[in-house]
Amino acid sequence: MILRQISAPVGVVSLLALGMACGAMQLGATDANLSAARSRAARGADLFASRCASCHGARGEGTGKAPAVMGAGALPVYPSDQDRATRSAFNDPQTLEEESRARPAGAPSREPFRTAADLERFVASKMPPPKSNASRLNGDENWQVVTFLLIGHGATVPKEGVTYDNAASVPIP
Ligand code: HEC
Repeated sequence: MILRQISAPVGVVSLLALGMACGAMQLGATDANLSAARSRAARGADLFASRCASCHGARGEGTGKAPAVMGAGALPVYPSDQDRATRSAFNDPQTLEEESRARPAGAPSREPFRTAADLERFVASKMPPPKSNASRLNGDENWQVVTFLLIGHGATVPKEGVTYDNAASVPIP
């Protein structure tokens, strides 16, 4: 064992360094993307903080209640059923079971996320989940929160933000 050969103080120092390295591995939006998103979509940032972050985490890293929506691994084209079942407190097993019976075998649980238009359609029609009894955003607010999410996620977003007119041409990375 390598650890036994190095002296105790060195071992402690390297454990500390390891801890610091892990701490630096950011879940959710990276610092750079998050600050870009806040400055380019300030209203979207406020809306996300007040209406979405309680379930999705302050930087979109996900919580026990809901999946990640920014950063590495977030916003996959198709989510796995497994991922939804384990990370959603609002999808009780019975609802998931009923939903999966309602779709053809092997069909994905939601429409694919390819462009900002897909994301906006999902947020506008499904978020927050009906079961939470939280109120929906209005049309303009949805575009602002989607602009915030996509910049935070690292997408290349036009200067004017994501709009109805450009959404279909803004890919989700
Ligand atoms: C009360 C908790 C709650 C709130 C508040 C909430 N969400 Fe969600 N969100 C969820 C859950 C649960 C899922 C997973 C739903 C599913 O897979 O059917 C989800 C899924 C999503 C997804 C899709 C993630 C994926 O990869 O499938 C996006 C995007 C999203 N939410 C955005 C938002 C935005 C934007 C807001 C604020 C306007 C918001 N959510 C507010 C609970 C919440």
